Amino acid sequence: MSTWKDLIRTPLRSVQAYHVPSHPNAIKLDANESAYGLSRAAHEAVLATVTRELHRYPDATSRALRELLAGQLGVDGSELCFGNGSDELLGLLCAAFGEPRAEGKKKGKPPSILYPSPGFVVYQTAAVSHGMVPLEVPLGPAFEADEAALLEAVAREQPNLVFLATPNNPTGTVWPRSTIAKLLVQHDNVITVVDEAYLAYADARSCIDLALAHPHCLVLQTLSKIGMAGLRVGYLVGRREVVAEVEKVRPPYNLNTLSQRAAEVLLREYQPEILAHAQEIKSERLRLKTGLESLAGVQVFPSDANFFLVRVANATAIYESLAERGVVVRNFDRPGPLAGCLRITVGTPEENNWLLDALRSCLR
Ligand SMILES: Cc1ncc(COP(=O)(O)O)c(C=O)c1O
Repeated sequence: MSTWKDLIRTPLRSVQAYHVPSHPNAIKLDANESAYGLSRAAHEAVLATVTRELHRYPDATSRALRELLAGQLGVDGSELCFGNGSDELLGLLCAAFGEPRAEGKKKGKPPSILYPSPGFVVYQTAAVSHGMVPLEVPLGPAFEADEAALLEAVAREQPNLVFLATPNNPTGTVWPRSTIAKLLVQHDNVITVVDEAYLAYADARSCIDLALAHPHCLVLQTLSKIGMAGLRVGYLVGRREVVAEVEKVRPPYNLNTLSQRAAEVLLREYQPEILAHAQEIKSERLRLKTGLESLAGVQVFPSDANFFLVRVANATAIYESLAERGVVVRNFDRPGPLAGCLRITVGTPEENNWLLDALRSCLR
């Protein structure tokens, strides 16, 4: 007789739940959020949007936000699909495009998702929780984009979906637009999702034009990394016929009323502030890079995002000493390509100074 435990899906048994350590009062450089909170005026504008209609479900189509964002991105409203953060959309993509290929079915090959590794951890959990196989294709030895390895792996594996984060988390790697264009031309039977969560920090332009030109391409963006992580608003951009398939699996009220309204007012009235904060983080990134590189024993990987991946000896001990000194970074130190690695989000100038001082004393 089987027990409830036997009902747990086999691939989930070896997976840990996503753990977010809590360090109240610490300098938080562990989650790639924007270092800058909103101005008082922006906060007040958000508060003014709070509705008395909280006994009603949210607008299932996020109409006002959709119209505004579509105008700002230069797309049609039907070319957008909203998610409760882009995390949710990754799962919805698996739910919508998880059908085993006819050729694979004959060989007993399950549907799969392919992404460069090291990559964003939710790609793996989204795949596994939707009965798909996560396939990782290694980045180069210094975590650089490896076009040949990517194209070869896609040709060999014929995954249902490719998730390509550019800049990539946790490495900061940027994928050249020419590689993405090649992938789209060579593999029009694979859905390529270009994850642009950190685009605001890169000197690259969005691939939205590619998504509008190819039905097998979608762009994923989020408000989380540009100062609005608490709202949980992410969106997909793509051609109407592909977006319509994801809409079929989207929970109708996934974007709550407060988030819809707050996102709308912030994107409508506070774009200059959002852009200015991103610009400040980009200049701080340069200063932080110089500071980190000046510390003996710290290898800094190039990054076009709002964080750096660094390698140090005794990374876990350093992570713990930094936490004792009030700075929390993300520890990736475990056997494999990320051994010895910590990820550090670019903070405000004061936070970065504190981090550099703390790191200097930990390394002594
Ligand atoms: C590459 C990448 N994509 C997507 C996300 C998810 O962002 P959110 O769910 O906050 O929109 C993250 C968050 O860290 C990320 O690093």
